[in-house]
Amino acid sequence: MENFEGKRVLVTGASSGIGAGLAVEFARRGAVVGICARRQDRLEDVLHQCQAFSPESQMWVVDLADETAVDKLAVDFSNTFGGIDILVNNAGIPKRRHLTRLDNKTVDNVMRINYSSPVQLTLLLLPHMLAQNSGTIINVSSVAATLSPPGEAAYSASKAAMTVFSESMALDLWDTGINVLILYPGVVDTELFTLPDNDPMVADVEAIPVADAVAIVFDGLAQGALQVYAPTWFADIAVSKAKDPQAFIAGSAEYITGRQGD
Ligand SMILES: NC(=O)c1ccc[n+]([C@@H]2O[C@H](COP(=O)([O-])OP(=O)(O)OC[C@H]3O[C@@H](n4cnc5c(N)ncnc54)[C@H](OP(=O)(O)O)[C@@H]3O)[C@@H](O)[C@H]2O)c1
Repeated sequence: MENFEGKRVLVTGASSGIGAGLAVEFARRGAVVGICARRQDRLEDVLHQCQAFSPESQMWVVDLADETAVDKLAVDFSNTFGGIDILVNNAGIPKRRHLTRLDNKTVDNVMRINYSSPVQLTLLLLPHMLAQNSGTIINVSSVAATLSPPGEAAYSASKAAMTVFSESMALDLWDTGINVLILYPGVVDTELFTLPDNDPMVADVEAIPVADAVAIVFDGLAQGALQVYAPTWFADIAVSKAKDPQAFIAGSAEYITGRQGD
């Protein structure tokens, strides 16, 4: 098991799901973990789990939609821990909605949480990593970034932006000692699929447990991978879509029509 003893890790969106799983696993492996999200009670629960392994771990209640709050989070985290070693941009919202019911405000909100906010946090904390010639940035994207599922236009676009930003960032930071890992969750068993104000999911894919997605991330870190899919077989689907996007979208349309007849 790779050791993260003393590493300073910030995980956004750690009050539930993948973020909570990653935060606790980093703490279990010796890291000092900072966690943030909006739901204080849920964060407190995750913080207690982290502190059982890593007593110095801390939490911040933050709405990442608020630019000033993100600025403050970066300052508070680095002042508390004297810098940062690993940033996990995990917080995200789906807002699944058929295109015909999508409005600009929703698109902007999704883009803010899933793209602009993690970029803002990354740029604020990057100088610490550059100064020490080391660091890791884990960006949680989605298979939606490559597969464009139905009713997820705003979400897919925000995750595609996050993905391309991450790839370009990996290139610009190539010789700096800072590594970038992009996680593409497929279907992981979290609250993301039961959030209010979202259309139901169309695709019916068996979800993997959070623990499996967390294990895939730590394997990716150990291998110095640029990207990992969870579950891993989604990588093959992404490749087949890239080879023939038209056939893939036509196949998706056929699948949706079939599901509507179910
Ligand atoms: N589960 C999957 O199959 C799947 C698939 C593709 C991508 N993903 C991505 O994985 C990441 C984690 O999602 P999850 O599946 O673990 O779902 P989740 O349990 O709903 O976690 C989402 C996290 O984001 C936080 N968050 C949302 N809006 C926020 C805001 N305005 N400010 C601060 N924190 C905010 C939530 O905390 P609060 O509500 O407490 O603020 C929560 O901790 C997301 O980026 C998601 O898009 C997941």
